[in-house]
Amino acid sequence: MRKVLIVTLMLMLALGACAHADDVKIGACIYRFNDAFMLRFRQAMQAESEKLGAKIELADGQDNQSTQDEQVDAFIADGVNVLIVNPVDRMSSQSIIDKAKTAGIPVVFINREPTEEMLATYDKAYYVGAKAEESGTEAGELVASYFKAHPEADKNKDGKLQFILLKGQNGHQDMILRSKYSVEAVKEAGIEPVELAGAIANWDKLEAMKIMNGFIMSIGPENIEAVIANNDEMALGAIEALKAQDYNTGNPEAYIPVVGVDANASALEAMDKGEMLGTVLNDADGQGSAAVKLAVSLAKNAGAEGADGKYIWVPYQKVVRGEKQ
Ligand code: GAL
Ligand code: CA
Repeated sequence: MRKVLIVTLMLMLALGACAHADDVKIGACIYRFNDAFMLRFRQAMQAESEKLGAKIELADGQDNQSTQDEQVDAFIADGVNVLIVNPVDRMSSQSIIDKAKTAGIPVVFINREPTEEMLATYDKAYYVGAKAEESGTEAGELVASYFKAHPEADKNKDGKLQFILLKGQNGHQDMILRSKYSVEAVKEAGIEPVELAGAIANWDKLEAMKIMNGFIMSIGPENIEAVIANNDEMALGAIEALKAQDYNTGNPEAYIPVVGVDANASALEAMDKGEMLGTVLNDADGQGSAAVKLAVSLAKNAGAEGADGKYIWVPYQKVVRGEKQ
């Protein structure tokens, strides 16, 4: 009798500790709301939370790490069951991990990767993202195959690819690895890449437009054979600058292939109009829903749904003129 009672009590305790999805409160910190790709990501997380019946609250870090740190504190004080964090500075992830650990709640990082060492310090810390090198390689391959299929693209007929590189934020794994692997892929394809100029444009369209404008003026558009941008927004900024010089407006004599990454709607539109060569799909829906599913299953103490060790990797896909390759 007593044994039965104890077993029953233990069962009740175990069930009590195991929250239902509709009891799960997620606190999600986004590095900056005003980012076209992260907007898609946020929408995907909201849709998945709704589907699972979990509550999600999103905070805008406004590209400021101390603002985000306060938001993490506020979520914890508010009693969220799990955190999803898109860190402003991924190297600041350790202090966020420490806070989650002290509070005893799981933390799922997205889009900006903490180091393996950081994730290893807490058994309930995970990362959901896409392999940056993959997108770099695929963007580089798009340029290389265009260059090979269009002999006129080699404007100075030296067999090499004279290109401009527009880079995302400093220190971001997507900036470092996309830059490296896109150029690597051009080499792999048997074409010697020559970087005419490169600059950080912080994922931003306007910044990229201004920088590209300067490059067009100093280098001359007739000497540029490709623009490789770490994301679509910067690719679109470059295209704006080119269009102002009557490039990429439909005249095949005045065209420079431009590639980005993300496959945002505005980039697909530019591709349909023939202004942009291609992009690589950064699967916001896949990453957003995987992050929320993982967060909810961790909060319910039901294991790490979908994770392989500390990670969930969502693949990239090449996109040319709206068609997946
Ligand atoms: C990248 C994406 C960029 C930007 C950045 C923010 O994965 O391609 O457009 O959103 O994340 O961290
Ligand atoms: Ca050339």
